[in-house]
Amino acid sequence: MTDEPVPEFDVNKCLTMQFGTLFVSHLWPDSQEMNQGLAKLILAEEKSDDKGRGIRSNAGGWQSRGNLITRSEPEILALKQRMETVVFDLLGAIVRKDGTERTFTLLFDSWANVCRNGNYNVVHTHPNAMWSMVYYVADGEPDPSIPYGGLLELLDPRESANYIQIPNTVLDGRTFVENRPGRMVLFPSWVKHMVHPFVGSGVRISIACNVNVVEDIRTNHPQDYQAATAKAPVDGKA
Ligand SMILES: [Fe+2]
Repeated sequence: MTDEPVPEFDVNKCLTMQFGTLFVSHLWPDSQEMNQGLAKLILAEEKSDDKGRGIRSNAGGWQSRGNLITRSEPEILALKQRMETVVFDLLGAIVRKDGTERTFTLLFDSWANVCRNGNYNVVHTHPNAMWSMVYYVADGEPDPSIPYGGLLELLDPRESANYIQIPNTVLDGRTFVENRPGRMVLFPSWVKHMVHPFVGSGVRISIACNVNVVEDIRTNHPQDYQAATAKAPVDGKA
């Protein structure tokens, strides 16, 4: 030990987080009317197409076909506008400013999820997509005595990060999302996630969406366009 004072040190000036994982959560105001319209059209589609897109990550419940966002009802158009706003604003926040004007095209694939008592989604990812979004239309009437009932949980992608931890810090390895109507979240599609069993009465309705962001290189980087679109032969093997 020494009596010498410790030289100046301010952890806030030297702490950064490396390899962070994007997560956006926003509770849209003024959503009640839109949600009522969305619930009506989703439940009508469930009735007319009870197979939907089949069994995916869902254990029970129903998923619509993956073309929801292509419908033209005003509620769907309003939802799409909100999704586009989130993604374009996010791009504006993360793209490094280098003095060039860059433009992007968004490719959406979107479907509805309907859960009733006992339904849940197993741990899964969304392959072939960049970011995934969830929008909550209706929360049903979850039984408050059931922990995590109907909650979306995101799992820390660094599987070993939880082996040693100090409880209740910003480094918690589990993230829960409360399914409040009007809430929209976005996270990378490779993040493992699940929905805990919904226990209660009523219907829990959410809309999921995959988005791929494609930079318009033809206008942004014309010098790269030829190389980027060059076709390579592909030898198919039986
Ligand atoms: Fe999912």
